Amino acid sequence: MSNKLVIFDTTLRDGEQSPGASMTRDEKVRIAKALERMRVDVIEAGFPIASPGDFEAVQAVARAVKESTVCGLARAVDKDIDRAAEALEEAESARIHTFIATSPIHMEKKLRMTPDQVLEQAVRAVRRARQFTDNVEFSPEDAGRSEIDFLCRVLEAVIDAGAGTINIPDTVGYSLPHRFGALVGDLIARIPNSDKAVFSVHCHNDLGLAVSNSLSAVLNGARQVECTVNGLGERAGNAALEEIVMAVRTRKDAFPLQVDLDTTQIVHCSRLVSNITGFPVQPNKAIVGANAFAHESGIHQDGVLKSRETYEIMRAQDVGWSANRMVLGKHSGRNAFRSRLDELGVVFDSEEELNAAFARFKELADKKHEIYDEDLQALVTDTSLRVENERFKLLTMRVCSETGETPVAAVTLSIDGAEHTATQAGSGPVDATYRAIEALVQSACDLQLYSVNNITSGTDAQGEVTVRLEKGGRIVNGQGADTDIVIASAKAYLHGLNKMLAPGDRTHPQR
Ligand code: KIV
Ligand code: ZN
Repeated sequence: MSNKLVIFDTTLRDGEQSPGASMTRDEKVRIAKALERMRVDVIEAGFPIASPGDFEAVQAVARAVKESTVCGLARAVDKDIDRAAEALEEAESARIHTFIATSPIHMEKKLRMTPDQVLEQAVRAVRRARQFTDNVEFSPEDAGRSEIDFLCRVLEAVIDAGAGTINIPDTVGYSLPHRFGALVGDLIARIPNSDKAVFSVHCHNDLGLAVSNSLSAVLNGARQVECTVNGLGERAGNAALEEIVMAVRTRKDAFPLQVDLDTTQIVHCSRLVSNITGFPVQPNKAIVGANAFAHESGIHQDGVLKSRETYEIMRAQDVGWSANRMVLGKHSGRNAFRSRLDELGVVFDSEEELNAAFARFKELADKKHEIYDEDLQALVTDTSLRVENERFKLLTMRVCSETGETPVAAVTLSIDGAEHTATQAGSGPVDATYRAIEALVQSACDLQLYSVNNITSGTDAQGEVTVRLEKGGRIVNGQGADTDIVIASAKAYLHGLNKMLAPGDRTHPQR
């Protein structure tokens, strides 16, 4: 058995299935480039049949990524597989990932198919995918609740049909580590041709066990782990990439495996994904949380000062934590700006886009002398640049806030190209601003979340605002960054509203 552990990232596919985490094509390309730079082995870029937008995003990632394998998801039906193959045509290295459910409950209630029909369809799907590529992955969806005898039959047959990777998903996050590890070990032992495939796992975090289940499977022979940056994903999310990789790296005694990932890129990727999706990282999150390497208690601080190993099992710099580095300032030129963004994986579609970003950088540099990577990331994510078909644009705003007086905001927007102004009072400057925007847009969206974080330290730091909006069951996140947090709030709200207007014709892969 090989000792290479394949890291399969599904942030752009399963991660995107988190309510509100939808990403534009360009955002997906940025994340894919960052994952490539981190040396992720396989990037699952999306589900091409789901919508024209998903198709284009997978196609764009396939074009942009050269070092990692790019994967597209497909149900076990011809049209999905053909569409995935088409989206991946230009990939340097492509994989088709096809799946069908094998648990009694899914087969009976969802698919309304007999086990024999499922087996036949699985084999047919793998054969079809093999017509396009040698690199085919098969997943028996809800394997965690499937019967092992049936799983053995299906998996033996799909390996014979040409599947080189067999992925065992715990789709509903129901498994327990010892059982899940044993399941994977038993499958490898019982399936006669199991040596012809790499066994993989894909665990959901409904019981907070996704990482433990994945690692238990690795101890039992799995050699690919499917995971997402920050543990993003459907419902409670997927196994967190950073936790899997650092567990394997830090506990080499238990996992004598080769992981090719450049771990120093982890924090950067985490921030990028958080920035783009609007899902903040909790401070106590392992590896990438702001407190992950912070020692508060005096005893700990004293111990760490005397010898780091007393309380730290990993080095912060090995996962990319570093003191904020001042990268650019108001005298930096366009080339320095472009080349730093290049290093951060930001790709501009046109010179106009670059020029617009540079103009915004200069504006920011006038207000804030030291510009860090985090500021640059927020600046390019800051959405007036990034939302396609933007209907609402902030032109000007004026807010009066005074002790003892009711705050009032006057906001002027461009709506479909025409200028409109509204003035509203509110309980605070942000409330007044949101009321003025709503008076103009009349979205009737429900504001489910509003949060502010500072991007770097200091009172001149940019504030980054995240909002979550809901309308008719559709959820979107919006973000905005500015040194003025009321303006950042307005930008975030407008970003969310612009996204809400984008067509939401996505098909859920598990349906
Ligand atoms: O959770 C799951 O079962 C999936 C499959 C499509 C692999 O995401
Ligand atoms: Zn999943």
